[in-house]
Amino acid sequence: MQIAVVNGVNLDVLAERDPALYGGISLSELETRIYGWARELDCTARCFQTNYEGQFVDWCHEVRRWAGGVIVNPGAWTHYSYAIRDAVELLAVPVVEVHLSNIEEREEWRRQSVIAEVVAHRILGHGPEGYREALEWLASPS
Ligand code: DQA
Repeated sequence: MQIAVVNGVNLDVLAERDPALYGGISLSELETRIYGWARELDCTARCFQTNYEGQFVDWCHEVRRWAGGVIVNPGAWTHYSYAIRDAVELLAVPVVEVHLSNIEEREEWRRQSVIAEVVAHRILGHGPEGYREALEWLASPS
C-alpha cells in the first residue's frame, strides 16, 4: 500500500515548537521515522509539508492518483479551512487525521476540527507515535 502523509502549516519548524506539546523532534526526523515505520508494515510512505493552503489542496488532489490511504495534519488550518475540508472529503480512500497534541484539551478555538467529519479515523495527542498508529490503522483497518 502507498500512503501519503500531508503535513500543513508550521510543521516545517516542528523542532522549534513547544516540546511538551509537539515532541521536540524536527520534521525531517519525523519523516525518517515515518519511512521506517512504513517499511516495517510493508507499506511505502511519501511525506509532504507546506505552509501554503492551496498547495495542501493541490497535494490532496494529486495523491488521489496513487495513494491507498492518506494521513493529514493540517496544523492550524484544521480549525477553520473549509477549502481543506472539501479537498479531504474528495479523497476516496481512508484518511486519518493526526495531531501531535491533543487539540481537544487545548484552547477553545483548537477544539474544533472542520475535517473531523470527513475522515475515517482520528489520532490526537500521541506525539510523533500518532503517525505510527495512523500507518498501522491504514495498513490493517479493523
Ligand atoms: C497541530 C495542532 C494545531 O492546533 C496547531 O496549530 C499545529 C499542530 C498538532 O499536530 O498538534 O500546528 O495540528
